[in-house]
Amino acid sequence: MYEVDGKRAIITAASSGIGYAVASVLAESGASVLMSSHDSQKIKQAANNLKKNGLKAYPVVFDLSESDAGSLISKASDRMGGSDILIMNYGDPKLSPFMEITGEEWDMYYRMFIRATTSLVREFVPQTNGWGRIVFITSMTTRESYPGFSISGSLRAAVVNLGKTLSLELGKLGITVNSISQGYFLTERLQAVITRNSALNGTSTEEERRKLVEDIPSGRIGRPEEIGYLVRFLCSEEASYINGANIPIDGGLTRYPY
Ligand SMILES: NC(=O)c1ccc[n+]([C@@H]2O[C@H](COP(=O)([O-])OP(=O)(O)OC[C@H]3O[C@@H](n4cnc5c(N)ncnc54)[C@H](OP(=O)(O)O)[C@@H]3O)[C@@H](O)[C@H]2O)c1
Repeated sequence: MYEVDGKRAIITAASSGIGYAVASVLAESGASVLMSSHDSQKIKQAANNLKKNGLKAYPVVFDLSESDAGSLISKASDRMGGSDILIMNYGDPKLSPFMEITGEEWDMYYRMFIRATTSLVREFVPQTNGWGRIVFITSMTTRESYPGFSISGSLRAAVVNLGKTLSLELGKLGITVNSISQGYFLTERLQAVITRNSALNGTSTEEERRKLVEDIPSGRIGRPEEIGYLVRFLCSEEASYINGANIPIDGGLTRYPY
């Protein structure tokens, strides 16, 4: 069920958290995974964790805001014989009031979210052969706005909108393009946010975690592998009619009904 056996997937920002969980689920379901991030030690370690369980994982250093997209696609060709699946996950954008974000920071995040996405899609599509899957992992900030999230909200919304346009243009090539807008998932990054809030507010981390969970109808924070299961489904044959969607996975947190 929801098989991706024998498929070849590229996953960006895959050394930890959500990206790593997606790579693990796909690899455990029989896919080969080219895992990339901008820290060579971390990405090697992450791929080794999968390899020692007999899974097909290949680490590649790829800085989303700097590296050349062609090099990642050609490494997929060298290591896996090509690629059928492109999963775009991203680094964490700066959380800050708009007036405290510099022009250089906007340029850097533009390169991470928009230039990396457009250039990787441009290199990925021509080497597919009548079947492909593209998934953009974004954030609930594409559906709801929050103070301090201007980079995340604006650039990820652009990614989702790009996904919709691509679905119209690439459907006839057998490629589906979908986005995922996740709520809170328990990664090291979210743990750091909880710890920071507890220091700022003079509360315990348990109290800060309770405050987060209070608003989530499902009554808990998500587990990163749950995003992996959704990605695996979107990459399976069973999901071939889901195209151009932006799918929330947030325990019901965002209130927008469509
Ligand atoms: N966790 C949540 O609740 C949540 C909610 C909504 C949205 N998100 C978003 O989901 C994404 C993943 O979050 P996470 O919680 O899994 O965080 P994480 O554990 O900190 O993972 C971030 C990943 O991004 C990679 N990365 C950072 N800068 C990069 C760059 N310039 N080029 C390539 N890779 C880079 C990191 O790898 P290296 O350090 O090895 O390069 C790491 O693998 C982020 O965009 C985050 O904002 C998370």
